[in-house]
Amino acid sequence: MVNRAARNIGPVVLLGPPGAGKGTQAKQIVDRYGVPQISTGDLLRDHVSRGTEIGLAAKAIMARGELVTDELIYGIVAERLRQADCKRGFVLDGFPRTAAQAGWLDALLEKTFFENLPTPENAATLEKCAPVVIQLLVDYTQLLPRLTGRRSCPTCGRLYNLHFQPPLVNELCDVDGSKLVVRSDDREEVIAERLAAYEAQTKPVADYYRVRRRLVPVNADRPVEEVTAQVFDAIDSHYPAGC
Ligand code: AP5
Repeated sequence: MVNRAARNIGPVVLLGPPGAGKGTQAKQIVDRYGVPQISTGDLLRDHVSRGTEIGLAAKAIMARGELVTDELIYGIVAERLRQADCKRGFVLDGFPRTAAQAGWLDALLEKTFFENLPTPENAATLEKCAPVVIQLLVDYTQLLPRLTGRRSCPTCGRLYNLHFQPPLVNELCDVDGSKLVVRSDDREEVIAERLAAYEAQTKPVADYYRVRRRLVPVNADRPVEEVTAQVFDAIDSHYPAGC
């Protein structure tokens, strides 16, 4: 495959239910295009583990499998997107997750391009660099084994699955030998709540992007490498000349 790491891409949004493979595919995009992964779940878990004010506000909500408030998320995302490594593009994993968050993101990107003047050139760039939204479609029967079998390395972040991508040595990371960990919200009762939140609040996000012709559905019920090939195709078709 051609390495396009030197080419700038615009924002990539990965949309899908818990366990669809957003984090898995985000890591492939990072490796290929050299852009950062912005996972709102990871950012929130980091706040929780550091015991920050945001972490204290989010902890119980996340433990129940519900969505934290939009206002809490906006501050975290805005701060992360201001960092220099996002200039060449970025992949959003777990954001936006409500139609309001999708509208907020569009407004933020518009403000970035129209900071000075709404010139025709700025408008063209805004159009060219509108996010590509990749919807990972998975049969719901696959989600439970994906989530209950998920393990991750606390040192390098590599993801495993006891059923589908097991480590070479039981419960140890192939890369650095660390003991793999289970996410605290990967318990069946919390998974049910996370899926309910997805159905009620996140499904409308697909409609938001569908009417704007930015939604690219991908069959995520395939082995990881096959899903990745479809994801790269979607990005390359959306940003044929960079951004
Ligand atoms: P978050 O961390 O975003 O969790 P999630 O959306 O529930 O998604 P997951 O991380 O569980 O799944 P994934 O799609 O990334 O799958 P993965 O690649 O790991 O959010 C956690 C919480 O934070 C939320 O509940 C909420 O409280 C809060 N939050 C976060 N963002 C928010 C926002 N914007 N607004 C409000 N609240 C927010 O894969 C899963 C497993 O499957 C792995 O084991 C993997 O190896 C395996 N796998 C992946 N692909 C395949 C494949 N093709 N075939 C077989 N196995 C596969």
